[in-house]
Amino acid sequence: MKIIFLGAPGAGKGTQAELVAAKAGIPTISTGVILREAIKNKTPLGVSAQSYIEKGQLVPDELVIDILTARLKESDCANGYILDGFPRTISQAEALDKMNITIDKVVNIYVPDEKIVERLAGRRSCGGCGATYHVVFNPSADGVHCTHCGKELTQRADDKPETIKERLRVYHEQTAPLEEFYRNRGILCDVVGQEELSETTALTMKALDLK
Ligand code: AP5
Ligand code: MG
Repeated sequence: MKIIFLGAPGAGKGTQAELVAAKAGIPTISTGVILREAIKNKTPLGVSAQSYIEKGQLVPDELVIDILTARLKESDCANGYILDGFPRTISQAEALDKMNITIDKVVNIYVPDEKIVERLAGRRSCGGCGATYHVVFNPSADGVHCTHCGKELTQRADDKPETIKERLRVYHEQTAPLEEFYRNRGILCDVVGQEELSETTALTMKALDLK
């Protein structure tokens, strides 16, 4: 199964993708995670991407399309995958078409902009395995370290209020048009993000016909 998770920054794409991927036995491919790893390791890709991410803007299409093309060639993608944070522009969606990739479903998670700031301001991520938590809504076992791998939790550099605002603006301008793009193909399912993580997971699993 090839699935795309669409939604504003902070809508819960990464959180739900991790849960659904574990249940469906397929990997999650997050361009945001790959880019942050490249920034941490100061690779040429990381150096090129850093200033865009820190400003809340999209990294140029060519760069992310190259990353994704390389990642999809890895063996764990053979039985399907979840794309989290790709595509983010119509050109990126067209790049998937050019690769002859048939997407089965696009899950569009909707959360109103007002809720986004609260979610992102409280988000903490694991620097080791990349797991995502929230200080109130989804805390780790001790609140400081990752429940899975024990590494210390950190706050993302682009989760500052001014950057969150810019990410939302860019989302509405450049990514939201993908809703119509995939709705017209009859593969978009809308999921309204709930206050309870598990309720959003249940709605997502239902939208994907998974148990
Ligand atoms: P990326 O890492 O993809 O960031 P994003 O789209 O801004 O989305 P987030 O990861 O911030 O949010 P999310 O929807 O995954 O929410 P989460 O599950 O964490 O991209 C970062 C940057 O990289 C981009 O700005 C861009 O510069 C660049 N980039 C990446 N891909 C690109 C591409 N294809 N093209 C160009 N540039 C690209 O949840 C948020 C918080 O809410 C968490 O704390 C979570 O615990 C909490 N939460 C989740 N669900 C619930 C719930 N139901 N109730 C309460 N709290 C909840
Ligand atoms: Mg994410």
